[in-house]
Amino acid sequence: MEIVFATHNQHKLEEVMQMLPENISLLSLDDIGFNQEIEETGDTFALNAAIKAKVISASTERNVFADDSGLVIEALNGAPGIYSARYAGTGNSKDNIVKVLNELKGETNRNAYFIAVICLILDKKEYYFEGRINGTITEEIMGEEGFGYDPIFIPEGHSLSFAQMSPEQKNSLSHRGKAVELLHDFLLKKH
Ligand code: IMP
Repeated sequence: MEIVFATHNQHKLEEVMQMLPENISLLSLDDIGFNQEIEETGDTFALNAAIKAKVISASTERNVFADDSGLVIEALNGAPGIYSARYAGTGNSKDNIVKVLNELKGETNRNAYFIAVICLILDKKEYYFEGRINGTITEEIMGEEGFGYDPIFIPEGHSLSFAQMSPEQKNSLSHRGKAVELLHDFLLKKH
């Protein structure tokens, strides 16, 4: 079965590819030659995932899923949330991290969670899968693996940041890992 994952983010693609069954052949937006920008105008993760999935589904007629994800920090009233990718305004992960660490300077409540929502459009029907992981924001950058906010997020019950873990260990705990596991089980039942 072929399915399009509506992302240009190579890191996400690799993470998700490792987690889906071998009989599912995952195509990226680059694989299908789609290079339009899709504006994420929704005000929830689910809406933004749906916007991306629907645009691709309408233009390719293929089965497709999209994810929208982000970091939600309690002491920042939920920021960066749906604006996680562009929080510092530069689109650069290091800048986003520095902004968060500055905003949390002197703050003792470091609670946060990562969330990922997947919208799947299969045979023209929509399905949603959500994963979350609770954790805390570090005082400084820890580790170099992964992407985005990985170097400042320690999942609950652990002492290493996501950026200090192997991809397998991160996937076994992460928000995206959990959402993809639900997608995986759903696809196995369907086909
Ligand atoms: P999206 O591509 O619109 O879903 O943007 C999600 C943004 O949230 C990414 O660009 C990262 O900044 C952040 N993010 C989402 N998932 C992760 C993760 O697993 N690790 C680190 N940062 C993440």
